[in-house]
Amino acid sequence: MTHTSERHDFTDKRAGYERLATQLQSLLAGERDPIANAANTAALLFEALPAVSWAGFYFLREGPHGRELVVGPFLGKPACVRIALGRGVCGTAAARRTTLIVPDVAAFPGHIACDAASRSEIVVPLIAAEQVVGVLDLDSPRLSRFDALDARGLERLAALFIEASAIL
Ligand code: SME
Repeated sequence: MTHTSERHDFTDKRAGYERLATQLQSLLAGERDPIANAANTAALLFEALPAVSWAGFYFLREGPHGRELVVGPFLGKPACVRIALGRGVCGTAAARRTTLIVPDVAAFPGHIACDAASRSEIVVPLIAAEQVVGVLDLDSPRLSRFDALDARGLERLAALFIEASAIL
């Protein structure tokens, strides 16, 4: 099985995310393993989306200090491993169960800097059976890289990942 990972033309973001959704569905079809699916989802996003320096997952786990986010499959620079709920952009998005668009990470109180080159970020909570099970996180070296169309597009892709995978 081969999968192309062409860089899409995202001048029309709606159309770009439509194509990406179709590609993700075929990439995940017939596979339920969440780690395998998260790895391929991260790779597809990292390859296809312009101006993205980190793309990947954090999953909610029981840790020594209660439930916390633990890094999962990603592409980009090595990242911090554990993030408490309510901390950083990821922990805040998970705690609030809502997508967070951060146009300037330097202006976000408590932002956790994994890559000094990161300027903007978007975090989409992963919800399975009404529970937050983790987040999908993307970073960009460009200020204000992500907007509401990215939020809707990435929420759709996150939902496809959850549907395809045996998460709970
Ligand atoms: N910036 C994130 C941490 C994860 S890295 O960006 C990969 C945050 O503030 O939660």
